[in-house]
Amino acid sequence: MKLWGGRFQKTTDRLVEDFHSSISFDQRLYKQDIRGSIAHATMLGKVGIITPEETRQIVQGLEEILAEIESGRVAFDVAAEDIHMNVEQLLAAKIGAVGKKLHTARSRNDQVALDIRMYLKDEITAIRLLLKELVETLLALAEQHLQTVMPGYTHLQRAQPITLAHHLMAYVQMFLRDMDRLTDCYRRTDVMPLGSGALAGTTFPLDRQYTAELLGFAAVSENSLDAVSDRDFAVEFCAAASLIMMHLSRLCEEIVLWSSGEFAFIELDDAYSTGSSIMPQKKNPDVAELIRGKTGRVYGDLIGLLTMLKGLPLAYNKDMQEDKEALFDAIDTVKGCLMVCRPMLATMTVRRDNMAKAARGGFTNATDVADYLAKKGVPFREAHEIVGKAVFYCLQQEKTLEEMTLEEYQKLSPHFSDDLYEVIGVEHCAAARKVRGGPAPEAVRQAVAAARRLLARY
Ligand code: ARG
Repeated sequence: MKLWGGRFQKTTDRLVEDFHSSISFDQRLYKQDIRGSIAHATMLGKVGIITPEETRQIVQGLEEILAEIESGRVAFDVAAEDIHMNVEQLLAAKIGAVGKKLHTARSRNDQVALDIRMYLKDEITAIRLLLKELVETLLALAEQHLQTVMPGYTHLQRAQPITLAHHLMAYVQMFLRDMDRLTDCYRRTDVMPLGSGALAGTTFPLDRQYTAELLGFAAVSENSLDAVSDRDFAVEFCAAASLIMMHLSRLCEEIVLWSSGEFAFIELDDAYSTGSSIMPQKKNPDVAELIRGKTGRVYGDLIGLLTMLKGLPLAYNKDMQEDKEALFDAIDTVKGCLMVCRPMLATMTVRRDNMAKAARGGFTNATDVADYLAKKGVPFREAHEIVGKAVFYCLQQEKTLEEMTLEEYQKLSPHFSDDLYEVIGVEHCAAARKVRGGPAPEAVRQAVAAARRLLARY
């Protein structure tokens, strides 16, 4: 017998039963559902809608059901549709008629909104912690590589010398913004919808503030129609998760490039690489590639949610049951990726020599030669032209800018003198960029300290 069966003359078609049932995926909300119900029953008791004895029986019954689910003793019933009706059915079976009072002044529409918000709040906190750990690993690596010179790139062409520390700190900035976005999203998730009923609130004199306090919510929703049809917080989370994945995928793409024989900037630990079933020599950066690949799933979850919600009339519509798989997938994917990315980075070996060698090639110090002339009073545009000619000359002579003699330089401009050689070594080029936000070790050390201060808030 369905909990809503009173108005029906026929049973539900088997196909429909399977089609609309969500218990296979929403059972993961069991804890939130039961905690929410305990708070609701406690509030109903407080305001006198049910008696203290009824409250006690309901709360005790729900606590027992929670323990039974946790110990794996409960087989959920597909015919009971979802986690909400499964729990209610279990309660009725356990404590009889009193159990049927639990759903007073409540609808599954405000109930499901509550459950998802509670679930997401915990997951946001967990994901922010994983991000914090990843940032800590990046900061530790940055501190080890303040002096590790490497080429910085634009268009994937060597551009100017930087340090590995500075490069990693760019990702620290991205992940700090991601943490901030999660905090922001948490604030809008932290709103308690119970009391909105199916759509139009309730005639019962509920104490919504009390329910919110029992469940640790910072606010109570302000409009019953909005509260049961709002999934903005899920969309926002998936957008924040998409950005986390985008940042991870850019980092992982660099790991893939850097671990290639052509770059050979890093070597991944054996524990975080895999081999080939045919080519015995292979050691592949599968973990980094898979993180890059999984980014697409999370974008899909975001677009799926937005598309599902688009054009829905107020208030609840069954379409919204589709929110959960997208949200859960985004949560699981981003957590899995963050968990594996951190140790992959922590265990990689950095090939400082190859990084420095790459920085010394590709004329990454050409800007520094032009800056040298500009500091001698040559207008920068002219200096740029002169150094362009020097690079062209070097390419023909197969030498580097450091290897050009002073005589060769002076043929291009009389402003060159011996002190040029002091400023065009790649280590010097990186170290001379002392501007705030630049790659000089002092500047990066300050960036690391600032990041640590921000992290301490979480
Ligand atoms: N399983 C449903 C969902 O996830 C719960 C709400 C159902 N409400 C309804 N009126 N059918 O959205």
